[in-house]
Amino acid sequence: MSGIQSFRIAVIPGDGIGQEVTQHGVNVLNRIAEHTAGKLAFSFESFPWGCDYYKRTGRMMSEDGLDRLREFDAIYFGAVGWPDVPDHLSLWGLRLAICQGFDQYACVRPVRLLPGIASPLRTADPDHFDWVVVRENSEGEYSGVGGRNFATRGPQQEVAVQSAIFTAKGCERIIRYAFELAATRRKKVTSVTKSNAQQYGMTLWDDSFARIATEFPEIETEHWLVDAMAARFVLRPDTLDVVVASNLFGDILSDLGSALAGSMGIAASANIDPDRRYPSMFEPVHGSAPDIAGKGIANPIAAIWSAALMLDHLGLSTEAARVIKAIEHATATGQVTPDLGGTCSTVEAADAILTSL
Ligand code: NAI
Ligand code: MG
Repeated sequence: MSGIQSFRIAVIPGDGIGQEVTQHGVNVLNRIAEHTAGKLAFSFESFPWGCDYYKRTGRMMSEDGLDRLREFDAIYFGAVGWPDVPDHLSLWGLRLAICQGFDQYACVRPVRLLPGIASPLRTADPDHFDWVVVRENSEGEYSGVGGRNFATRGPQQEVAVQSAIFTAKGCERIIRYAFELAATRRKKVTSVTKSNAQQYGMTLWDDSFARIATEFPEIETEHWLVDAMAARFVLRPDTLDVVVASNLFGDILSDLGSALAGSMGIAASANIDPDRRYPSMFEPVHGSAPDIAGKGIANPIAAIWSAALMLDHLGLSTEAARVIKAIEHATATGQVTPDLGGTCSTVEAADAILTSL
């Protein structure tokens, strides 16, 4: 075996603050590699896809985009979306095209209260606020099935159908992923649905959950309805470990979780193909934040934490842990951006993390 491990990473900064934060994640990865004395190397190739590209070409990414990405070990993504392009075009044209094209069916979103950060929940502390949302990422409410019609019948006559697709295979594989993750943590999985109101797709999910649970007798299980779960995120965050939910519910709950942990600016995410047929994609949960873009105050933690999730996926768990430690050191010493109550710029906050690495 040669001593050098090298990884090819496709970087897609995208729009708005996506372009401001991804460079800092790349810097962190390069710094990690420098410290391994040549044992580890990353090479990065950047792609100019996003809303500007769309305005020039009419496409969010080049026509052979997926083919070009296919050969990379991982994809590091910023954010997509800008006010002058309809959000459903930008999201479907790039981020969802990659997640669905590469069947990255597990979207993994950790939430932890970092040292030194005040949660809106007064009693929360880092030991009791540490969960992972596992979001189904390939079907459900974001299947893109439906249509709009009857606009020609006259004003206010148009109708739209937006369907959700739940397959037994799709439910089982994400639920099994959640159980396997819980086995490495505090051994508890909470399934979130709304099967009282959505009696077809979500009962299929519930049945799949009950079936997979029998494969993991050592793991504690619960199932909760999503509205009650929203309240529980606020009231009893200490009781959560791995939370598995459909595409839409996972999306909403993970934003709620990050807000409780202090800011959207720290929420990291991994879009994983656990079967490793395709590259997985790592990105902050947040969007392009047009309201703060260009001001130099975007929090780089979400992007850097996402780079740590990428290291973990590439088998570099020691290096990933070092990045998390460096983030913790920066938050504990108050070297953070205004969204976390600090006065640092993006560059200063990222430098604090780099220095402590
Ligand atoms: P957003 O996540 O961009 O912003 C929501 C709020 O959080 C804003 O007030 C923003 O300033 C703040 N925020 C977000 N990230 C931050 C950071 N790193 N540091 C400090 N503050 C931060 O969500 P919004 O405004 O709903 O969407 C803006 C655009 O982003 C839209 O075009 C939307 O479609 C797109 N979007 C893209 C996503 C992706 O590429 N994965 C995810 C969410 C939204
Ligand atoms: Mg979201």
